[in-house]
Amino acid sequence: MDIISISSSLFISKTLSSNFHTIPTFFFVLVVLLLPFDKHILMEMRWRNICVQGAMLGLLLLCFSLLVSAQTLDPLEVSALKAIRRKLKDPYKNLWNWKKKDPCENEWTGVICTEDDDQDAYLHVQELRLLNLNLSGKLSPRIGNLPYLTILLLNGNQISGPLPEELGYLPKLVMFQVDQNHISGSIPKSFSKLKKVQHFHFNNNSLSGQIPSELSEIPEIIHILLDNNNLSGYLPPELGQIEKLRILYVTCASLLQLDNNNFGGSIIPDSYATMPKLVKL
Ligand SMILES: *[C@@H]1O[C@H](CO)[C@@H](O)[C@H](O)[C@H]1NC(C)=O
Ligand SMILES: *[C@@H]1O[C@H](CO)[C@@H](O)[C@H](O)[C@H]1NC(C)=O
Repeated sequence: MDIISISSSLFISKTLSSNFHTIPTFFFVLVVLLLPFDKHILMEMRWRNICVQGAMLGLLLLCFSLLVSAQTLDPLEVSALKAIRRKLKDPYKNLWNWKKKDPCENEWTGVICTEDDDQDAYLHVQELRLLNLNLSGKLSPRIGNLPYLTILLLNGNQISGPLPEELGYLPKLVMFQVDQNHISGSIPKSFSKLKKVQHFHFNNNSLSGQIPSELSEIPEIIHILLDNNNLSGYLPPELGQIEKLRILYVTCASLLQLDNNNFGGSIIPDSYATMPKLVKL
């Protein structure tokens, strides 16, 4: 008997300490077990009142702990995803399940959430993988309201319109791929604030204007792919000084057209000469 009671109390204390849920469940089960016997065993009204109060408390705690632990996506990010969806056209209904209640719980296509950690009451969007889904329409500036995003893949769709400057407000973004779309407008200078980003894959779009020299402020960038766009102006010499840059693809023909005097006939600045990097002409 002793061993059983010791081990069971050990078990209870262990589960109590390891799982917050167990406390209210324990209360609840205790009361449910006791209530039917109250006439025979617990003769005093006082006891019954204590039981009823305990049951209420247990139920309340259970509800509270369920509320706290049923982790759902941060409501700000849910509304950002809905705004992103509204700006996109989806003729093949690849985003059919983006109507379901919670993007994490209901596993919306292409939405990958953070692991349930106890730091925060909510989950967050960690990755958005919407590649090759025949999506058209435009990119909502509300993409900038997904602050935990590390991977953004929108390649191989027919998305048009500009890259919102709000995309530069994603402090954790590492992979940024929008190649093979119909994106136009210029590359926002705000992208220089993406301190973690390693990959810019913007090739095969309709981007125009000057490549911002501010991109050289991105410490971690490895790949900048800008080929097959309508960029003009010159190739900023500063990009040649990015320590980690390994691949820079640009279509130099259009750059050359507008600005062929800037570098004495050569459009590739000297700063690129010493680097083991690839520039596609
Ligand atoms: C995309 O569109 C093509 C036809 O244009 C179709 O064959 C293909 O199945 C579509 N893919 C998806 C994922 O919707
Ligand atoms: C990108 O555009 C070039 C030129 O139009 C084309 O040859 C190439 O196939 C395209 N790449 C992809 C992956 O679509």
